Amino acid sequence: MDISKIQNLKNQAISAVLEAQSDDELERLRIAYLGRKGEITQLLKTIPSLSASERKETGQAINDAKKAIEQAIKDTKKSLQTQKIDFDQEWLDVTAPGKKPALGHLHLVTETIEEITDIFEKIGFTLKTHPEVEWDWYSFGALNMPENHPARDIWETLYLDKLQHPKYGRAVLTPHTSSGQIREMEQQKPPLRMLNIAKCYRRQVDVSHAPMFYQFETLVVDKNINITHLKGTLDYFARQYFGKDRKTRIRPYHFQFTEPSFEVDVTCIVCGGQGCPVCKDGWLELGGAGMVHPLVLKHGGIDPEKYSGFASGFGVERVLMMKYGIDDIRLLFSGDLRFLQQF
Ligand code: FA5
Repeated sequence: MDISKIQNLKNQAISAVLEAQSDDELERLRIAYLGRKGEITQLLKTIPSLSASERKETGQAINDAKKAIEQAIKDTKKSLQTQKIDFDQEWLDVTAPGKKPALGHLHLVTETIEEITDIFEKIGFTLKTHPEVEWDWYSFGALNMPENHPARDIWETLYLDKLQHPKYGRAVLTPHTSSGQIREMEQQKPPLRMLNIAKCYRRQVDVSHAPMFYQFETLVVDKNINITHLKGTLDYFARQYFGKDRKTRIRPYHFQFTEPSFEVDVTCIVCGGQGCPVCKDGWLELGGAGMVHPLVLKHGGIDPEKYSGFASGFGVERVLMMKYGIDDIRLLFSGDLRFLQQF
């Protein structure tokens, strides 16, 4: 068979396909060339009867024609579809305001950590970071709580049994930021004003206790530091964080690592200190505080004859719950947007 005839048929088919104006016309052309009785299909049927020498060249030319026509039909179908779009209806206003994606904000706990940091930095405290996975020595031993001392029970500690330091004992998820006291004294000699905000871990869960929570710890060590410095600093914090009319009070308490030790209360946010169902007697507990025990100063390499200091440790979640009237600490960790978006 004459190859040029096949080429002509191919060219004729392709130009007809490219000029087709509708899907119907395209379908008619497909049937005419590639349908069961189509011209190209008929040619394909002749291939087996060709001589071996003809088969290669002619057979290939017929198959090429088939593929080229198929491709042309496909391309034309696509361009007919594009033409169907009514450009009078489809418009783009590049000056129209964009769609604003919903913006989140920092978590309330993170915001509070930043706020507390600002408050203490204003009076010369430096924010420090100390390990949250700690050795027994820093969390307990150096804080005057020897092995088997009953005071350790209060902290309901999570130990990492497989990790043991030859000198500093078992590894613990630190139950309080007071472990940063000794670390700080080892790193820095007085005068020092540390603010340590970190995660703490205890085996506790209820409306006011979480197994992981944040504490913020202050530590001041200098010459002639006394209880009035502690009280003044706590009052300053309470006024800055809760509002100018807030006051704190200190009540005698016991911690192994401070002497004397106190629990610190702030006047109730709800009733202003008059007494109400939330506070009962007008006061809410913030956390613990006291004058650094001489033995703790010694363990930190500081001479208690020359220097004295105070420390305090409060819960970040606890203070923000008091400020915003949140009655269940677990809400803070629930990830519930209905709760979080209120702040
Ligand atoms: C302490 O942890 C002492 N280290 C505080 C301290 C520091 C005393 C420096 C003296 C000098 P306490 O166990 O009371 O103390 O915890 C202090 C505060 O941490 C509590 O008042 C509370 O606000 C917060 N807190 C304690 N446990 C939890 C918990 N499981 N979930 C949430 N907050 C907690």
